[in-house]
Amino acid sequence: MAITGIKGFNDILPGEVEKWQHIEATARRIFELYGFAEIRIPILEKTELFARSIGDATDIVEKEMYSFVDKGENRVTMRPEGTASVMRAFIEHKLYAADQVAKLYYMGPMFRYERPQKGRYRQFHQIGAEVTGVTDPKIDAQVLSMLCHFFAELGLNEPRLEINSLGCKECRPVYRNALKEFLARKIDQLCEDCTRRYDTNPLRALDCKSAGCKEATAGAPSVLDHLCQGCADHFASTRRYLEGVGTAYAINPRMVRGLDYYTRTTFELVTGLLGAQSAVAAGGRYDGLISELGGPQLPGIGFAMGVERVALLLDGREFRRRPDLFIAAIGEAAQFEAFRLMNSLQQLGVSVEIDYEGKSLKSQMRRSDKFNSRFTLIIGEDELSRGTAVIKNMDAGVQKDVELDAERVAETISKGSAAC
Ligand code: HAM
Repeated sequence: MAITGIKGFNDILPGEVEKWQHIEATARRIFELYGFAEIRIPILEKTELFARSIGDATDIVEKEMYSFVDKGENRVTMRPEGTASVMRAFIEHKLYAADQVAKLYYMGPMFRYERPQKGRYRQFHQIGAEVTGVTDPKIDAQVLSMLCHFFAELGLNEPRLEINSLGCKECRPVYRNALKEFLARKIDQLCEDCTRRYDTNPLRALDCKSAGCKEATAGAPSVLDHLCQGCADHFASTRRYLEGVGTAYAINPRMVRGLDYYTRTTFELVTGLLGAQSAVAAGGRYDGLISELGGPQLPGIGFAMGVERVALLLDGREFRRRPDLFIAAIGEAAQFEAFRLMNSLQQLGVSVEIDYEGKSLKSQMRRSDKFNSRFTLIIGEDELSRGTAVIKNMDAGVQKDVELDAERVAETISKGSAAC
């Protein structure tokens, strides 16, 4: 029996991969406009890094990590996200010594043992960005504008931006207590998970999907009414800057996020187009994380998007590349010439296909149709003896004679039209 892949681990095949390349290239181009540089981080980290940053009482750390003990008896984990690793690298290599403000982006696979379904996988891919060293809310607005710019550049008007503030270590505990007090009267309505988390992470009940939790949290106190002056001012300024650059948003005071490191601004880019998986990108501020991981007391903010989810939003669009030219040849001498011409054209930067096994002209033309090349060239015995052949522009439907010489053919193709 043939061996199949592992559930939740996907192949990304040619045809689909061009879409991914387009998403990645767009991210690189846009993020670099905003001064971000790429960082590449390892897939495997010490388990402790994620336990300390994401939080022991989160779903990710409690039940979703791919952790194991390696041959050297080290407890290691396949990264479930990128922020912790990027901050670990930022601290380890003392990037802050040269400049406290680092703007970094990354892309690659992440691993979480979740129940696979549309838009949710066990190996999934994130493109993320992080900024260190800036407390001013201008950076919150800039990071969000950049993310919206990226989606606009892909031609998507979904997803929509939702923002919230989770306060800081001064005001969050006050809110937590107010929420716990409110929930105490309704604890028997909460789902099993939220009952268990009532002491460790009561905020999760606010975005729990279970009917009981929804009912129990209706009318719950809002985090935004409990922000201290500093956090309230920070949130108000973030909103003012967002409005200043015309970035549309909605406030969602029930957004809590599943990772513990967040402070102040949090956000999600949500869509109704992907069923249960509504978040296409998400992130926020983490002003205590760098010091928590043993680095200097510096703030941070960032986001990550799920590439599979972005790709789903682009479904139906064609990204498959077309070759510039397909050469058909009749007879052995012409096929030899077609092979030589193809090789020379490839050296000149023209993408060319032939039918390697092609026997009849008919079967070669069938293959040509499959490639959907921009131009076709047919070489027969007559053409070979004359040293010219007909090149056809498939889109414009026009054709002309061209000398059987790589430079002339390349010139015709680069002009884009066989008619000129
Ligand atoms: P997150 O909300 O856990 O945040 O994940 C960010 C995005 O990754 C989600 O919005 C979703 O699009 C995608 N994603 C997460 N899990 C899966 C999955 N199992 N299958 C497919 N896609 C998934 C973080 O990871 C934070 N590190 C974001 C961040 C960066 N915060 C600050 N900086």
